[in-house]
Amino acid sequence: MTHRILFVCLGNICRSPAAEGVFRARLPHLAADSAGTSDWHVGQPPYGPMQQAARARGLDLGGLRARQFVAADFTRFDLILGMDASNLADIEALRPPGNETPVRLLTDFAPGSGADHVPDPYYTRDFDGALDLIEAAMDGLGAHLG
Ligand code: 4NP
Repeated sequence: MTHRILFVCLGNICRSPAAEGVFRARLPHLAADSAGTSDWHVGQPPYGPMQQAARARGLDLGGLRARQFVAADFTRFDLILGMDASNLADIEALRPPGNETPVRLLTDFAPGSGADHVPDPYYTRDFDGALDLIEAAMDGLGAHLG
């Protein structure tokens, strides 16, 4: 059964905590966490402008703290969802031998969006666009998980 979901991005302060927040609000009976492939922001709350954009949609991300993705996450979670191809490559580099946990792009669950990754709002500054895409993908993920 797929009931423990891990969202992964680069810094764990913009995209993946937003995805975790949206997921938790919609599917509170399932377990979710998020992590970054880098250690750049470990221990920090989500980026201010992302918290603000999320708050405008009724989502409070303020309690989340960044952590780094580790190899043990392959056995702690049933499904790992990265935000872009670079995330997927960094995740796969840590896969333990024999482990078969699925690793997918979050945008795989938003086929209608035409997007093949969630652009990093830390660079694009389009926090609302990132949230729109994350919310669209969460519709598909929710349907997938039942
Ligand atoms: P995220 O965005 O991967 O969505 O959390 C980033 C946040 C910070 C940095 C890069 C991406 N950074 O370079 O500090």
